[in-house]
Amino acid sequence: MGLLSSLVFPTLFLFLSSLPFSPILINGHQCHGTESNALLHFKDSFVISKFASYDLYSYPKTVSWVPSIDCCSWDGIECDELTGHVIGIDLSSSQLYGSIEANSSLFSLVHLQSLDLSDNDFNHSQIPSMIGNFSQLRYLNLSQASETTFSGEIPPDISRLSNLLSLDLSSYTLSYPPDDAIINQLQLSIPTLRSLAQNTIRLEKLHLSCVNISASVPDVLTKLTYLQSLNLFNCELYGEFPVGIFHLPNLITLSLARNPNLNGFIPDFQSRALISKLVISQTNFRGRIPTSIGNLTSLNWLSIAYCNFQGSIPSSFGKLNQLVHLNLRSSGFTIGTFPLFFVNLTKLSYLDLERCNLTGEIPSWITNLTSLDYWSFYNNTLHGEIPHSLVRMDNLANLYLGFNRLQGKLELGLFLKMRRLSVLDLSYNKLSLLNEEASFNASLPPLKVLYLEQCNLTGAIPTWIMNLTGLQRLGLQENHLQGEIPHSLFTLENLETLSISGNSLEGTFDCDMFLKLKMLNYLSLSNNKLSLLPGKGSSNGTLPPLEVAGGISPLICNLKSLVLLDLAYNNLSGTIPSCLGSSSQSLQIMMLQGNKLVGHLPQTYVMGSALKMIDVTDNNLQGELPRELVNCRGLEFLDVSYNKINDSFPYWLGSLPELKVIALRFNEFHGAIHCPSTCTFPKLHILDLSHNLFSGNLTPETIKNWKSMTTSNISQLLYKDWTIYFGGKNWFTHIFYSFTMSNKGVVTDYEQIQQTFYLMVAIDISGNRISGEIPSVLGDLKSLVLLNLSNNLFIGDIPSSFRKLSNLQALDLSLNSLSGKIPQELAELTFLEFFNVSFNNLSGPIPENNQFSTFEGNCFAGNQGLCGTPLKKKCGDSSGSSPTGVDSDHDSESFIEFDWKIILIGYGGGVVAGLALGYAFGSDVLLWLKRIFK
Ligand SMILES: *[C@@H]1O[C@H](CO)[C@@H](O)[C@H](O)[C@H]1NC(C)=O
Ligand SMILES: *[C@@H]1O[C@H](CO)[C@@H](O)[C@H](O)[C@H]1NC(C)=O
Ligand SMILES: *[C@@H]1O[C@H](CO)[C@@H](O)[C@H](O)[C@H]1NC(C)=O
Ligand SMILES: *[C@@H]1O[C@H](CO)[C@@H](O)[C@H](O)[C@H]1NC(C)=O
Ligand SMILES: *[C@@H]1O[C@H](CO)[C@@H](O)[C@H](O)[C@H]1NC(C)=O
Ligand SMILES: *[C@@H]1O[C@H](CO)[C@@H](O)[C@H](O)[C@H]1NC(C)=O
Repeated sequence: MGLLSSLVFPTLFLFLSSLPFSPILINGHQCHGTESNALLHFKDSFVISKFASYDLYSYPKTVSWVPSIDCCSWDGIECDELTGHVIGIDLSSSQLYGSIEANSSLFSLVHLQSLDLSDNDFNHSQIPSMIGNFSQLRYLNLSQASETTFSGEIPPDISRLSNLLSLDLSSYTLSYPPDDAIINQLQLSIPTLRSLAQNTIRLEKLHLSCVNISASVPDVLTKLTYLQSLNLFNCELYGEFPVGIFHLPNLITLSLARNPNLNGFIPDFQSRALISKLVISQTNFRGRIPTSIGNLTSLNWLSIAYCNFQGSIPSSFGKLNQLVHLNLRSSGFTIGTFPLFFVNLTKLSYLDLERCNLTGEIPSWITNLTSLDYWSFYNNTLHGEIPHSLVRMDNLANLYLGFNRLQGKLELGLFLKMRRLSVLDLSYNKLSLLNEEASFNASLPPLKVLYLEQCNLTGAIPTWIMNLTGLQRLGLQENHLQGEIPHSLFTLENLETLSISGNSLEGTFDCDMFLKLKMLNYLSLSNNKLSLLPGKGSSNGTLPPLEVAGGISPLICNLKSLVLLDLAYNNLSGTIPSCLGSSSQSLQIMMLQGNKLVGHLPQTYVMGSALKMIDVTDNNLQGELPRELVNCRGLEFLDVSYNKINDSFPYWLGSLPELKVIALRFNEFHGAIHCPSTCTFPKLHILDLSHNLFSGNLTPETIKNWKSMTTSNISQLLYKDWTIYFGGKNWFTHIFYSFTMSNKGVVTDYEQIQQTFYLMVAIDISGNRISGEIPSVLGDLKSLVLLNLSNNLFIGDIPSSFRKLSNLQALDLSLNSLSGKIPQELAELTFLEFFNVSFNNLSGPIPENNQFSTFEGNCFAGNQGLCGTPLKKKCGDSSGSSPTGVDSDHDSESFIEFDWKIILIGYGGGVVAGLALGYAFGSDVLLWLKRIFK
């Protein structure tokens, strides 16, 4: 790094005062032997690895460090011209790998004024406290391109560097997805930060991004009057940000982004303010933006995305005519109709107004902002037509208009005239895009991303798409596209994500064509009419079905980069190739539900499989669950519901450390639900065993293994690692998992209860043959939101321990043989929305409280001895009306005497019982049952 010119004077002074003994007279410009040796030692403490630096232009500077050459001419070394001492070391991006030892020879170079070791890999070593010995140091850069470099506490000694002008200890993580929690490896204590600010009063630049400070910002920073650039990105700051920092007279750049717990507000500004870059995104800054922001006439970069501001944008923004970058995404503002002042911001190249409550139409004058390169109005309520003058915006490369209410018929060819267009997102409006193939001319824009979801596209997939050779992401889902997938699509060899789900595509799903798309990681073709070629010999009828069925070609396993495969809801028949679990190390999500697949689930799953989610519901799969599934150590979601899988309770899945959802609904699972103490299901959220043939008792020992459900704070179980991003979407937020509860005469999708899938904790073992008493330890599963034990053979009391299930929203115990009273303690369950104990042998009064008064009579029907509201039978009134709570008629009463449960279960437990549950509680229930069973 260059020696700052301000250093010349003191150095000269030193020279004059020590003239007779100065080494320059003896050695000329030669470096001192001790310093040369120290540097060589330092060099030898590292190996060169090109993976140690991220900069593409990195190279090993220390290769030029050889004893035969004067160290002052080594690459990265700077000596004082007069004294010959080494005063500058620049080893940035030098591919160094190794640790810096506490007693490293580096620290003997006490004349250092500038030290730059950025972008190397110091293998998690600590910053040695000897760094404080460099009393001359003005410039120190230990920033790192990943979190692997330095770690641990920044030594307090750093505050002894009282001559510092510039300090950079940032790390920049390259992790993806961007919202992943970054683990900050370097920690800075508040006492150290305080004394640093007190001692280094001439500091001009302080960059600490991704350093874990975990405190509020100390006021003493407002004393750094020379400060020009302060970067506290992602420092885990909280508390109130000292407003004085905005008023530092020399401040030019301020970044506080990604400190979600940092409170603050934007103060009034004087006209003298020099600030040119202000980045406050992802903080808890709030309040209004003062009109005086218009005084920041040098401002060219303003990012206040994801904050909690209020009110509208002051029109003084129109004075900020130097703005190049403006990001107001989800900042809390309500912008309303497009303010005219934007027309003044002629230098704008980046404008993000996503989720800004923009209303009205897109004004045609907006196209006067011809410098715009990035333009997002995503997710507002804009309506009206898209102005055709858009085509004039020559520099526009990224255009996001998705999720608005834009309407009208629009010729797609319009956009194809924009010569720089790289991203076009028109998804989810009310547009009708027309595709007049004739209007497409030979020179297409360099589109990389094309999202035309729900754009009322009809006919075949537009042919010009096949000429977009640079296309990486194509989203055409939920249109009315027909015909087959054209083979020319497979010439788009840069394609990474492809979604054409929700159309009416026909023809065969041709695996080997997809193999040409070597970069493909996301393939979603669900909800079409795709089929597979029938297997050989399907017509002769002599081979067993598994052999004739054909199925998904094993070639699919050659798509080595595939992460998500979604072929759900098509006409796919035949088998699932066994390689799907074993060959691909990248496949994380496999969605094959709603087809006609037969045979077994793939039997081979290798260790190291990346599978997180397997959904094969609603097929005709049979056989056992493959035990090899335990090799999928990352499996989080397994849903095999609605098949014919015949197996015992898969307790062995309990060793999977991430498994959260097991759904076996409507299969042929049988035997006891038991669990040896070794299977702990450490993260289980949802266990759906309903409508199988499970029998035996539910033992306390088994329930005690489900420890993950015993926490009362559900948010502790959040799916933090459930983040798979494609096209800016988190795939896992799209999961739809519904439970059905029998209540109020209809099957109720549990989805309607106010609980997101993320927070859902549920056990559903309804529709089996479980007998014995309900173990009272179930009451220890405090995070349960839903518990469905209905349609089994449970006897005995309802455990009063259920009062501890404080998160419970739905409890269904209907269609059992429970007796005794409904525990009064259940009235303590304030979140309970659904409650059903109908058709048991319960007696006594129904608990009285506000919650219970909302449950209708049907929920208590079919219990001879129950009394109290909402039943007609009053307590202590033995001559009351029908105990069933349904219309009293002779037929129904005589039916109740009949053992209806035996009928239901005797009928097979499976689908019929399910149907019975669905309708069993309508007022016409008894008539209906009679029709079926008599
Ligand atoms: C700053 O802006 C406010 C409001 O726009 C204005 O009244 C004030 O005069 C400006 N201050 C200076 C010092 O120019
Ligand atoms: C636009 O800029 C002009 C000249 O800088 C200024 O006079 C005018 O007030 C600005 N308009 C708005 C709406 O701020
Ligand atoms: C958007 O505007 C509507 C009505 O003006 C308001 O109810 C809503 O809270 C606003 N949303 C946001 C995010 O500001
Ligand atoms: C937009 O530009 C056109 C032509 O350059 C000009 O006539 C018009 O006044 C501008 N619109 C606004 C609102 O400034
Ligand atoms: C749109 O914004 C709303 C809040 O304003 C948010 O809830 C919703 O998820 C957003 N939708 C998309 C597709 O980003
Ligand atoms: C979709 O397109 C068809 C045919 O172009 C048209 O008849 C229909 O009105 C459009 N639907 C909407 C919602 O615009």
